[in-house]
Amino acid sequence: MSCRIVVLISGSGSNLQALIDRMDRTQSEIVAVLSNRADAFGLQRAHAAGIETRVLNHREFPDRLSFDRAMIQALDAFAPDLVVLAGFMRILSGEFVTHFHGRLLNIHPSLLPKYKGLDTHARALEAGDTEHGATVHFVTEELDGGPIVLQAGVPVLAGDTPTLLAARVQEQEHRMYPLVVDWFASGRLRLMEGHAQLDGQRLGPTGLRLDNMETDMRGTRDA
Ligand code: GRF
Repeated sequence: MSCRIVVLISGSGSNLQALIDRMDRTQSEIVAVLSNRADAFGLQRAHAAGIETRVLNHREFPDRLSFDRAMIQALDAFAPDLVVLAGFMRILSGEFVTHFHGRLLNIHPSLLPKYKGLDTHARALEAGDTEHGATVHFVTEELDGGPIVLQAGVPVLAGDTPTLLAARVQEQEHRMYPLVVDWFASGRLRLMEGHAQLDGQRLGPTGLRLDNMETDMRGTRDA
């Protein structure tokens, strides 16, 4: 049975595009894309791929909880097995997170636990970090704090600006998010007792590293 996915966006949707591009090769289907902004470019990507869209403008709701309840209702109508946050720029209430517990993933542009929240690229540059990256994690009530599944690192180079660094990080995001979504869709990845588990193995506090996995895979091929 195919895994029904709903993707939540607020902007460009380049991660959504990376997921769309992989769909025909996976056991999953993006059944809808929901945005809190009507002008999110990702909605055009969804239309081009023939995916249903919904717009729920958070400004039309009196508070966070009523917006989240409307989102729960809109999402439930698609009976999702997995809800994927891909640049969805709203903090989610405990009620929302609990409703989708174990089937809610997020991608964050830093090597968590470093730089939760916004402006991660500028903060990494300011701190003089030599490495930066991205993290895919299950979502819990703690902002950017849920169990980590996969991280990918990129070097910080001389002369980097937040824009240059963000572009390097996004290249990794577009490789790692489809991979993690595939793991979930094929039943290999799940959240068990507050920990991410892949193929029955509990993952460590910072999950797996994409760079290490690729070295391992190269090693297997070369052998
Ligand atoms: C990504 O950098 C992601 O890490 C963050 O928001 C950005 C979304 O980019 N959560 P896009 O809309 O997928 O291009």
